[in-house]
Amino acid sequence: MKEIRFSVAPRATGHRANNKGTMRWNELSTPALTVDADVLERNLARMADYCRSRGLGLRPHTKTHKIPEVARMQIRHGAIGLTVAKVGEAEVMCGAGLDNILVAYPVMGREKLERLAALALDHSMLVSLDGETVAEALAGAARQHGATIGVLVEFDAGLGRCGLEPGPALVALARKIMQLPALKFRGLMCYPGQIGGDGEARKRDIVRVAEKVELALEAFRQEQIPVEIVSAGSTPSAFQSHQIPGLTEIRPGTYVYNDINTFYQGACSIEDCATRVVATVVSTAVAGGAIVDAGSKTLSSDPLRFGPASGYGYIVEAPDAPIVKLNEEHGYVDVRRASRALKVGDVVTIIPNHVCTCVNMHDEVFVLRNGEVEGSWRVAARGKIR
Ligand SMILES: Cc1ncc(COP(=O)(O)O)c(C=O)c1O
Repeated sequence: MKEIRFSVAPRATGHRANNKGTMRWNELSTPALTVDADVLERNLARMADYCRSRGLGLRPHTKTHKIPEVARMQIRHGAIGLTVAKVGEAEVMCGAGLDNILVAYPVMGREKLERLAALALDHSMLVSLDGETVAEALAGAARQHGATIGVLVEFDAGLGRCGLEPGPALVALARKIMQLPALKFRGLMCYPGQIGGDGEARKRDIVRVAEKVELALEAFRQEQIPVEIVSAGSTPSAFQSHQIPGLTEIRPGTYVYNDINTFYQGACSIEDCATRVVATVVSTAVAGGAIVDAGSKTLSSDPLRFGPASGYGYIVEAPDAPIVKLNEEHGYVDVRRASRALKVGDVVTIIPNHVCTCVNMHDEVFVLRNGEVEGSWRVAARGKIR
């Protein structure tokens, strides 16, 4: 194997790679997670252009990539800030010099609240929440640290996960936050994660979300409470966000890389999927099958949420050979109807069903340009679940 230094930052970060040796994607030791730099940059630019043209702020969710270098690229493309789910992810981003972070998750538990308050001492932090218990605990931690934390009150736009019904309860919680020390009510948040599926279903869902947003805003208008931020958005619905009046910003995450779920929702093409797992066929001993060295510890076991009923990833070189089952380190490929024979030693690329959980399995991602490895990024926030 040729020697290559992966500590060199790839050109995509603004640095120039100075590798002497070169390496093609199929020379990587497998399984390996790769990102095509050109596709990534195209995805970043497309979303940034859309938001700019529609007057929407872009606050991308970094849970998909978990990499400060990619977050920096998003900021360079005009993002107004970043979104994370966990305090640990916020710490990684702040530690890398990034700022304006929304923790889009109700943070509960003393230790986490203290870490969050410590971050808020020298970073602009926002937190979403949907109840007084979290609000009071957050205020307590912020006051103790002498920090101020911005709050978005979450309403349920139809997903049924977190968030109050839009209406008087939402206003009451906002009023409560205004009375609490060390917190600042900044606005509203919802996550319309139910928007997906085909065109007609999506149109109906968008109309329903728009109604929920309007109900929420009307409740605040009636009480004459100004709402500075209205944050929503997801990848499948991102390019229809302008059809939901009142939003000030969106938080798509998956769009950076895309995946097979995004593809089957009609929200991207296969060419827009920037991330692939490079895997090797390691066994063909059992008739009708082939085993690749990518199992649930490489791909994650998330099933397809949309599209065909089965499959744990899309083999680009053999789309008619589905991955029908996973063990931890084995991917079972059904080759009975495959138009291409898979031989032991063949190297293939797999687009994951759900790229966010797949990325969280990997220490690093190898960055490719025109099939050549330019360098690697550490997935610095992987496993940051607290
Ligand atoms: C609160 C919140 N905001 C934004 C996103 C990003 O959505 P997507 O993955 O569709 O880009 C998610 C995804 O889970 C989320 O939970």
